[in-house]
Amino acid sequence: MVKEDIEKRIELKLERRFSEERLKDKDLFEVVEEVFDKRTVMGIMELRRRRCLKVLKGVVSAGKEARVYWAKGFSNEDLAVKIYLTVTAEFRKSIWKYIRGDPRYEWIGKLPRHKLMSVWARKEFSNLKRMYEAGVSVPRPLCIYQNILVMEFIGKEGVRAPLLKEVVEHGEPDRELAEEIFWRIIDNVKKMYNSAKLVHGDLSEYNVMLWNSEIYIIDVSQAVRLDHPNALDFLQRDLHNIVRFFVEDVGIEVPTVEELFKEIVNE
Ligand SMILES: Nc1ncnc2c1ncn2[C@@H]1O[C@H](COP(=O)(O)OP(=O)(O)OP(=O)(O)O)[C@@H](O)[C@H]1O
Ligand SMILES: [Mg+2]
Repeated sequence: MVKEDIEKRIELKLERRFSEERLKDKDLFEVVEEVFDKRTVMGIMELRRRRCLKVLKGVVSAGKEARVYWAKGFSNEDLAVKIYLTVTAEFRKSIWKYIRGDPRYEWIGKLPRHKLMSVWARKEFSNLKRMYEAGVSVPRPLCIYQNILVMEFIGKEGVRAPLLKEVVEHGEPDRELAEEIFWRIIDNVKKMYNSAKLVHGDLSEYNVMLWNSEIYIIDVSQAVRLDHPNALDFLQRDLHNIVRFFVEDVGIEVPTVEELFKEIVNE
């Protein structure tokens, strides 16, 4: 048999197995997702086989590269499932500044699409884990498989917690609470730097959630280690975003970026 025939056969077999499993696993998805490719559907099945999640309930957020879903686990707990689905040329370009110079990840720039998504998801998972273990307030990382990351759901019954940006848009919080939130964020940046030895790299009012009077820092795939050549620039930019937001949008007085920077780096 020629090589193409063999490949076709394998493909057919896979296809059949896939549709059979899919029928059996109808209750795996309460949300119909035509954006899922075969690999992703199989990945979700694998995560269920590992008892990492039971059923995908609905979409929480549909970003450009990744989608976040609300899911339920086998103990009926809420879960957040972040699935990396697309690699745009823009994405490749935007991640380059974070991976260049990072000995752990520089090689991934040239990977094909699906491999890059898996490595990027795993990078987010390991950053989350490192932060979580250092006591940084991030969603607890639970499972990783290929392009799919399972973590603690911040919110309740499928309703996600608001982002810092949204809370302020709704006229909250008052000055005192705003100061409290500001310092909690700074404390977490400190822990991230001094204990986890990482810099977030994309910190802003869009990547902080507020829930049960606690702040949660999210979206950590791009975080870099302190030995990254631009780590300190990223830290400065993160601080700048936070200071700018609290001064201009919230309207409270906070220390300057330089003061905060010194405090964090010299601690
Ligand atoms: N653990 C979680 N629990 C609940 N909601 C979450 C969780 N993680 C992320 N979200 C929601 O999903 C959104 C997107 O997540 P995240 O910021 O990690 O992805 P992203 O790739 O930056 O997407 P975007 O481009 O939309 O910002 C968040 O703004 C938040 O609303
Ligand atoms: Mg984000």
